[in-house]
Amino acid sequence: MAGAIESLLVEDRIFPPPQDFARQAAVSGMDQYHALCAQAAEDHVGFWARHAREQLQWHKPFTRALDDSNAPFYKWFDDGELNASANCLDRHLGTPTENKTAIIFESDGGEVTSVTYRELHDRVCRFANGLKSLGYGKGDRAIIYLPMSIEGVVAMQACARLGIIHSVVFGGFSAKSLQERIHDVGASLVITADEQVRGGKSIPLKPAVDEAFAMGGCDTVRKVIVYQRTGAAVSMVEGREITWSQLVDGQSSECPPEYVSAEHPLFVLYTSGSTGKPKGVQHSTGGYLLHALLSMRWTFDLKPTDVFWCTADIGWVTGHSYVAYGPLAAGATQVVFEGVPSYPDSSRFWRMIARHKVSIFYTAPTAIRALIKACESDRATHPTQFDLSSLRLLGSVGEPINPEAWMWYHTNVGGGRCPIVDTFWQTETGAHVVTPLPGATPLVPGSCTLPFPGVDVAVVDETGGEMPNGQGGILVIRKPWPAMIRTIWNDPNRFKQSYFPPELHGFYLAGDGAVRNKQTGYFTITGRIDDVLNVSGHRMGTMEIESALVANKLVAEAAVVGRPDDVTGEAIVAFVVLKGVRPTDAAAAAKVAKELRDWVGKEIGPIAKPKEVRFGDNLPKTRSGKIMRRLLRVIARGEDITQDVSTLENPAILEQLKQVL
Ligand code: PRX
Repeated sequence: MAGAIESLLVEDRIFPPPQDFARQAAVSGMDQYHALCAQAAEDHVGFWARHAREQLQWHKPFTRALDDSNAPFYKWFDDGELNASANCLDRHLGTPTENKTAIIFESDGGEVTSVTYRELHDRVCRFANGLKSLGYGKGDRAIIYLPMSIEGVVAMQACARLGIIHSVVFGGFSAKSLQERIHDVGASLVITADEQVRGGKSIPLKPAVDEAFAMGGCDTVRKVIVYQRTGAAVSMVEGREITWSQLVDGQSSECPPEYVSAEHPLFVLYTSGSTGKPKGVQHSTGGYLLHALLSMRWTFDLKPTDVFWCTADIGWVTGHSYVAYGPLAAGATQVVFEGVPSYPDSSRFWRMIARHKVSIFYTAPTAIRALIKACESDRATHPTQFDLSSLRLLGSVGEPINPEAWMWYHTNVGGGRCPIVDTFWQTETGAHVVTPLPGATPLVPGSCTLPFPGVDVAVVDETGGEMPNGQGGILVIRKPWPAMIRTIWNDPNRFKQSYFPPELHGFYLAGDGAVRNKQTGYFTITGRIDDVLNVSGHRMGTMEIESALVANKLVAEAAVVGRPDDVTGEAIVAFVVLKGVRPTDAAAAAKVAKELRDWVGKEIGPIAKPKEVRFGDNLPKTRSGKIMRRLLRVIARGEDITQDVSTLENPAILEQLKQVL
């Protein structure tokens, strides 16, 4: 890792914006970028208020932009009223966008279905009217457990239309994770599908809902709506559960939006923290939508003719801001894809870009790295074999992109002509925080470059003092911004403790380390500073995985750490002490390891399965009993231990844990 960071620091390749790109860009040239930043620096609140008035359609205009009287529980535009769905759909009716394609959906098997803005509006209204007929309305909470689909977007938009707070659960999460979220958010409605289809396989979803109910704690749920994706036979509880088509049958395609305060929660999205259970990140309606939309214009430089494709699932924040809300608010044509990049083979993305004439493509470094591996060994799937001339802009999100992957993406996918926006942000930030603006910012591979105008990002020490450029520190945001997390659902204290520790004097703590380049001031993210791992761009808490492991009857103790991985960024390594004897031969160890991996898959979801499980009679601990995770990280990386281990209770254990069976 240290090596990787050094190579980022000495990276000196610079890619200025191509002239014809810059000429037509929303933010054209660094002068314009600096002017925007200067406006924000001069009048932070006024800057955002102006854009909020210009970008969003208000039912009732706000008179107060920021209320900071109860910091850090900030309120933006809160006496203004609007509706997020009206801002994504109704605003386009009666304009040329009404008959423009909103979504091009491609299924796992390759069938294509498209809807225009008018059709999408009508579908959202019919579904919303169905929800209304069941008695749902403002303030209710709905769990959405759906595959990537037009229906997924319709469900989110319909909730927003009625002021129902949605909480989307990624289809890869287990029944147990689903149950925890239903319970924590107090959902009265679950919207799911019979199955999801990925990589040529059907994977059950509704049975996971049944399992979650069987675990108990879901008594708040009154109705379950089942979208029949494959038509598989699933059990339906009479009176409680109905199909999607039954619900929308005969419903009107007009449903007046419920206007809400800009501060009304639009959604709660669960994400992992360093301790305890996943936290429900609560976002607002107005401030969130503003930043999602503005970043479509500035970061993605969206034009009316663009075809936008963000490959993220709606179960993650990227699928909220850049599938379900941002592109629609901006009136974009976007691609929504049900499947996976490797099916039927590794050319799937390139074929789809060519087929749908995608011009802006936004994906994760882990996908790029996996595709580099696959496409370099099978030339028939190589991006250069396909007509990708429609592309004009590429994006990256979710984890640091290493300069090698950046260069491959730039050369082979972008044909050397497309800027790459490496966008740094988080579930909590709502939208881009540090990112190039493609018509302005000269790019340096491996750097997310400079702050989004109006977001006051800095690198500081533990007490909030700004670090000189060139010296690493912790990433903070010094002023509130409209799309920021409002609270953790049901846990305002945890919100304050996690993000606004007293020693930082009111700065928002992102949880990442960062360093700014000495000359350019460009940011490079050096990784999480807490016990959060980033595996294939998915955030996982080590404690969460440890809790899952120790809940298994075989396990006495467990410690989980990350180690760098060529494809997934980080890989999960679990060190386990069994209640019984430690397996000493490879076959026995493999058998128990598989059992534990499957267990974690059931407890959390397949994405949390440790890549490697090692067994010991004990774990390295200090004399006061604290597990020395630092040492475990060194061991997991296969590096030599150079530090003094004399304070360890049981140094001999290190040799045992080094063995890979
Ligand atoms: O560590 C950072 C990393 O992903 C974390 C946020 O994860 P999540 O809330 O799941 O949201 C992911 C999608 C926005 C951050 O704390 N991260 C995200 N984008 C980047 C990144 N690290 C480096 N460079 C990025 N562009």
